[in-house]
Parts: sequence; structure tokens; C-alpha cells
Amino acid sequence: MISRREFLAAGASVTAVAGVGLYTCRIEPHRLEIVRRPLSIRNLPGSLAGRTLVQISDVHVGTRVDDDYVLATFRRVADLQPDIVVFTGDFISYHPGIFEQLPVLYRHFPKGRMATVAILGNHDYGPNWAHPEIAARVVDAVQGFGITVLRNEISEVEGLQVVGLDDLWAHQFNPAQVMGSLESRHAAIVLSHNPDTVDLSGWGEYDGWILSGHTHGGQCKPPFLPAPLLPVRNRRYTAGEFALDGGRRMYISRGVGHLLQVRFNVRPEVTVFELRSA
Ligand SMILES: [Fe+2]
Repeated sequence: MISRREFLAAGASVTAVAGVGLYTCRIEPHRLEIVRRPLSIRNLPGSLAGRTLVQISDVHVGTRVDDDYVLATFRRVADLQPDIVVFTGDFISYHPGIFEQLPVLYRHFPKGRMATVAILGNHDYGPNWAHPEIAARVVDAVQGFGITVLRNEISEVEGLQVVGLDDLWAHQFNPAQVMGSLESRHAAIVLSHNPDTVDLSGWGEYDGWILSGHTHGGQCKPPFLPAPLLPVRNRRYTAGEFALDGGRRMYISRGVGHLLQVRFNVRPEVTVFELRSA
């Protein structure tokens, strides 16, 4: 026989576990945080100082991320009236109906007043990251909605060079193709989906910011412990700001979407950077 007190304690534990489970599966995956940070860039043209650059990452449109959540997120960003929007990969999680679903959502992707620039992530290459023909259709579709996709290329936004590197796991990461063309006396930032790319060669003399995604912050992070779900070789690269060798700095967004719909202590994120002259 268990006592009444033990019965009540057991009931409270079950309720607490159910509550945490409900929060982890239903609530936190949609509790978007708008993170505001300064972003200091050397040689930034005066006309860009004080402008906003919004980073959106890892939306993962597909069967596991709620469409209404994605649309609400796009609306929240549009309401911020950003000057520049950058997207750091994983537009989709591939499924056979993705090319009917993709345009319904991405036609509402928030545009920057000056520019909207994106790169691809591993999921944009379909199953096993092995389908360039899927990536080509993703690029075609989103470019139709005014999003410029850079694949080891540079786009210049009023004197700011935006470098977009292609994806590592899809074997398309090729900084050597583009970093040599950077004008080192002019302002620059680099977009690279997978944080592990910063430890590879090919960066040349680059010593500025790299904006990254891919990790989703690990999605679940028990207090005082490292995040267990980290798809990176360098497990230091969870989320947030990192100082790197060669004077480079990296910012990893926790992303908007998810693979499995679970997040705990790692809220989804859209980052609003205020551009400053370093
Ligand atoms: Fe992702």
C-alpha cells in the first residue's frame, strides 16, 4: 500500500514530466525569440551604419514544421522592415510534395529593403544531401520570389560584399572559388551554413564575420549540460558568438525550424543585427 502522501508526490512528478514534455514538443519549438545584437564591420560604408541586417536560418519547410508558424515568423520579420535579409541555409526538409508546399510559404518570405541574399544548406540537397537537381529547383523557386541565392559567389550591397558559400555536406563548399575575389579594403561578411567550415582551409586573408546556422543550437539543452543533438565535428559550435583564428568571428543562429519537433532551453531564433562601423 502506498500512503496518500506518496500517491500525491507520484502524481505531481507525473504531471511535471507531462508538463515538460508538452512544453518541449508543443510550446518551445514555436516560441520564437527575436535576438538583437550589434554587428561591427570594418570599412562599413557610412550609408550602412545603423541599418539592420536580419539573419533567418534553418526554416525547414516540410512535413515537420508547422506552416502557420513559418508564416507567422515571416510576418514578424517583415514587420521589422529590415534593410538587408540574409538566409543561412535549409529552406526545406525534403519530401515528395515539397515543390507544391515551398511556393505557398516562400512567396511570403520577408524581403530586405536593400537586398535579400541566401545560401543553401545540406537539407536543400534532398535525401543524403546528394541531389543537386533538388537544390537547383529550390534555387529556381526562391529566386522567383526575389531571394538571391549565392553559391560560392559574392553579391555587393551598397559597398558591403556579401559572400555566400555553398554547403559542406553536399560537397559544394568551395571558398577558394570566391575568397580570392574579395576586395580586402572594402567591407565584407560571409554566409556559411555549416559552422565546421570555419576550420577548413580556403579562407585566405579573410578576418571578418561569418554567419552560420545548421546546429539549431542542439534543439535541447539540459541546464548546465552541453546540447546532445549537435551535427558538427567541433562540438564547441553550438550557437551564438565565437572568436576564431585569423581575427575572424562567427555567429551561429539557433534557427527557426527543427528536424524533430522538440526544443528545450534552445528557443528558435531570428537575429536582428544593427550594422556598425568597426
Ligand atoms: Fe538545419
